Amino acid sequence: MLALTIESSCDETSAAVIGDGRQVLSNAVASQIPVHQRYGGVVPELASRNHIINIDAVVDEALADADVELRDIEGFGVTAGPGLVGSLLVGIETAKSLAWAFDRPCVGLNHLEAHLTTVLLDLDDVDRPVFPYLGLVVSGGHTDLYVVDGIGDYELLGRTRDDAAGEAFDKVAKMLGLPYPGGVAIDRLAKKGDPEAVDFPRPMWTRKNLDFSFSGLKTAVSLHLDEISEPEGQQLADICASFQEAVVDVLLMKAEAACRQQNLERLVLSGGVASNSRLRDRARRDFDGEGIELFITPRSLCTDNAAMFGPIADAYLSRCDSNHFTSHRLRARANMALGTSQRSPSSSHR
Ligand code: KG4
Ligand code: ZN
Repeated sequence: MLALTIESSCDETSAAVIGDGRQVLSNAVASQIPVHQRYGGVVPELASRNHIINIDAVVDEALADADVELRDIEGFGVTAGPGLVGSLLVGIETAKSLAWAFDRPCVGLNHLEAHLTTVLLDLDDVDRPVFPYLGLVVSGGHTDLYVVDGIGDYELLGRTRDDAAGEAFDKVAKMLGLPYPGGVAIDRLAKKGDPEAVDFPRPMWTRKNLDFSFSGLKTAVSLHLDEISEPEGQQLADICASFQEAVVDVLLMKAEAACRQQNLERLVLSGGVASNSRLRDRARRDFDGEGIELFITPRSLCTDNAAMFGPIADAYLSRCDSNHFTSHRLRARANMALGTSQRSPSSSHR
């Protein structure tokens, strides 16, 4: 099936054309980073207004890059949530209108589910994992550990109790006077820093509880900054590297603990923070020879984009029959949940 997917849940406007749920024929992304940078974070009203400005051109670009026309598209998929309501609505109304005009099915999709299943696309540098696998989604809004038993079959093992990892990166970057998006700035500066320079805490350092917490770590950075005046140069790089190391340590420890508890042999890393260089390097090193096969989402598909919806769009569209027009039921759901809640540590997978 040839599908057109649209993502507009936060500050990226994106459209992609996907063949059979696996082949990325195009993936157009219009970033709004320059719009929000001067405010140090995403301004929801500006995000939705800019989605309106960008969406038609982004859809046209995706079609042109794939060398197809709208009438060739057999089904539409669009982010229904979670995300900013005003932003979501732009993508949803666009997808619904196109689906209505061309009499095609249209499905509303979960943003987290897309991050979790991006590695099911045909990718040059990552093999496709077989089910079941453990998925760690680390983004600006989520830090979640899921067992992925199949498309549509997810169990939540742990999540952040306060800030998401990406949110902590962004807030710490702001404290350090670094530009939005903070994760990218910290990643870059940390390369020149010493990860052991400052001994920041590793919050919720226990293998028994798979939840995360990053707000205390953020406070620890703030308290450290109270002791020194405006760090720069090597001192700034050392703080970035030390903060980043604390986040990476916690993420990898919990991911490994979850795999062991559930007897899972495959681990998938996804979401914007999974593009972090140190997380990627440390994951490759830490899991080497440990009996856990690692699948890291390619960098370009970690941050928000429409191609990541390909596998789920295809799966859900193929469950709609051709007379089943779903878009009238499709609404924006800011807090859209995913999967069932915690399983017992004793249940096991191969
Ligand atoms: O998945 P994503 O694009 O949007 C959400 O679904 O939230 O993730 C965005 C988050 C931001 O918090 C951003 O700072 C973080 O991902 N991020 C990074 C890096 N690139 C993006 N964090 C750490 N290192 C990076 N290289
Ligand atoms: Zn995301």
